[in-house]
Amino acid sequence: IKSIGVLTSGGDAPGMNAAIRSVTRAAIFNNMRVFGIYRGYKGLISNEIEEFKTNSVSNIIQQGGTILKTARSAEFMDPEGRKVAFENMQKHGIDALVVIGGDGSLTGASIFGNEYDIPIVGLPGTIDNDLNGTDVTIGYDTALNTIMQSVDKIRDTATSHERLFFIEVMGRNCGFLALNSAIAAGAEAAIIPEISLKKDQLGELIEQGFRKSKNSSIILVTEGEITGGALQLAERVKQEYPQYDVRVSILGHLQRGGSPSAQDRILASRMGIAAIQALLENQRNVMIGIRENEIDYVPFKRAIKKEREISEELREVLLISSI
Ligand code: F6P
Repeated sequence: IKSIGVLTSGGDAPGMNAAIRSVTRAAIFNNMRVFGIYRGYKGLISNEIEEFKTNSVSNIIQQGGTILKTARSAEFMDPEGRKVAFENMQKHGIDALVVIGGDGSLTGASIFGNEYDIPIVGLPGTIDNDLNGTDVTIGYDTALNTIMQSVDKIRDTATSHERLFFIEVMGRNCGFLALNSAIAAGAEAAIIPEISLKKDQLGELIEQGFRKSKNSSIILVTEGEITGGALQLAERVKQEYPQYDVRVSILGHLQRGGSPSAQDRILASRMGIAAIQALLENQRNVMIGIRENEIDYVPFKRAIKKEREISEELREVLLISSI
């Protein structure tokens, strides 16, 4: 492999820049040429490709977002779009790709890599932490910290007014952000999709009289249809307990921004170098994962498998620590 392309795709995540930097420098260190591809697969199709040198990635490790921009590309779902993408790679002499993104991006990588026999290595870049085969994804730790700090602030006002707050966080269909930020911020409960599929979590909380011993309560809720979202849950409580002073806060996209945490910068730096190492070892169709603090190669198929288990132990920690 003489020349690689790097792109970020799907929702941005803090630490993506640190990953771009590390991939670029590791490639150059190993005498490869590197091309930055703008706007994810979209830019691969529209030929927004530029050669990177070591200083193209200077002074970005601390920046949130992605200097390469990102997009969710409908054209890339189409074989015609992928054909144009492949032709553009050939024009620039790009032999391999490093794709930084979440499950949609890695699914696209898997299809493209098989279709055109291109070595592709993925890096898990998403705040959702919803990929298999890695303990954490790039951006997750920063988002978790952002949520924790926001919940701390909401707690001040919740306590002062003796209110019940439903705080909605991102995560798509995955409860990691809600559950772990609930633990970190000392919230009373987390309503997460993995459990909502099995039982009525709010119903249970109401039955147990969740506010009996407390003057204020904070409940973290994962966005989306499975949990119903914070607004819907709050409405239900208002119906059943008109005496409760209920408020909703939807944290939204602030969760995706900000300077990456030290953990995310280090993770992204390690994974970026591992991606180039993987390509040098002729790996393809794998995502770089981290398990027990060791780098691992995870086949795309396994990484994007839908159900990611949420730990029972974590649920118990929240349950016990919030009595
Ligand atoms: O996958 C990251 C994520 O932030 C999810 O948590 C969320 O559901 C989604 O992206 C939001 O996407 P968009 O920024 O396109 O609204």
